[in-house]
Amino acid sequence: MRRIQIFDTTLRDGEQSPGISLSVEEKVEIAHQLARLKVDVIEAGFPITSEGDFEAVSRIASEVEGPVIAGLARIHQEDIERAWEAVRWSRRPRIHTFVGTSDLHIEHQMRSTREEILSGAAEAVRLAKSLCENVEFSPMDATRTDIGYLAEVVAAAVEAGADVINIADTVGYTTPAEFAAFLRELKERVPGLAERVLSVHCHDDLGMAVANSLAGVEAGATQVEVAVNGIGERAGNASLEEVVMALVTRKDYYGVEVGVETRQLANTSRMVSNMTGYDVPPNKAVVGRNAFLHESGIHQDGVLKDRRTFEIMKPADIGLEGTNIFLGKHSGRHALKEALADLGYTLEGETLKRAFKRFKELADHKKTVTAADLEAIAADEVGSF
Ligand code: KIV
Ligand code: ZN
Repeated sequence: MRRIQIFDTTLRDGEQSPGISLSVEEKVEIAHQLARLKVDVIEAGFPITSEGDFEAVSRIASEVEGPVIAGLARIHQEDIERAWEAVRWSRRPRIHTFVGTSDLHIEHQMRSTREEILSGAAEAVRLAKSLCENVEFSPMDATRTDIGYLAEVVAAAVEAGADVINIADTVGYTTPAEFAAFLRELKERVPGLAERVLSVHCHDDLGMAVANSLAGVEAGATQVEVAVNGIGERAGNASLEEVVMALVTRKDYYGVEVGVETRQLANTSRMVSNMTGYDVPPNKAVVGRNAFLHESGIHQDGVLKDRRTFEIMKPADIGLEGTNIFLGKHSGRHALKEALADLGYTLEGETLKRAFKRFKELADHKKTVTAADLEAIAADEVGSF
């Protein structure tokens, strides 16, 4: 079965989220957690950008074992050498070099030409390869690049020795079907790509980063670049937990394997949220606090009889323990009975009926009925029995 490499860029692209600035210690701690999560690659930073980033990448490279440790570099010689100085301490270092390939980027951002970028990319990969065994090349804004020119750049990077070719949807512009067709055409135009790792890197500007990444997998990508909680430039990157759980839960459909220890997902999400100060929306897929809560009576009743009725993943699969019943005004008597039993109260018949009536009255006024509220009702009813 095809194995999909999970490349985590929380510490690089994720840290490029407006307002996020992690200390070296925090980055090292997150990197250790990513190793426990068993991601395949950690992009630890962009060493040329600051002393702090350089130090963080160097520390992670020397301390964190397991995943490949990558450092980002533009196609400039000084970037590549600096990235190498930082990642070289890892047992499994990677230099990741990138350049914009769309005409918009070439003409308006870099004020260069297609020819210069083509030769610059090949030279950069050659230099990186002379320093480091493992080299990734990313054509930035690839999805808005003329495919004929993109194929030339990718072929040159492959020829120069790139091990991984990462197709970036830098501004979250593509759509799933379009992206899959684009990747298939690129593979046809660059036969040498078949012997390399094809990677995808999708942003979420139109809310399609995860869908586009999964379409990439369907089109043959074997590396997906993601960030914990989907943080990253602007609207963020494809969310690690969503991509992983989609591949795991729908293994029947995608037919691929991932090496991630999914029971570390909830912990990792919490740690990144606490350290970045970026809250996880309650209704976020997989790691939002409501992702496994059932409020309506029908759903609660179903879940209590057989969780599979309304749950496609188990909370324990992502490392969550405990009750998955949210008691609110839509909850049913069965759910109340179970929640009371968890608190040590066995209410039946008339007592349960009265407790349920009081619970409903309370839930009408209070958004969340707490364990303390339930205990008060139960103790009262049991006492009056
Ligand atoms: O979005 C992007 O194009 C990037 C590259 C550096 C891969 O982050
Ligand atoms: Zn990016």
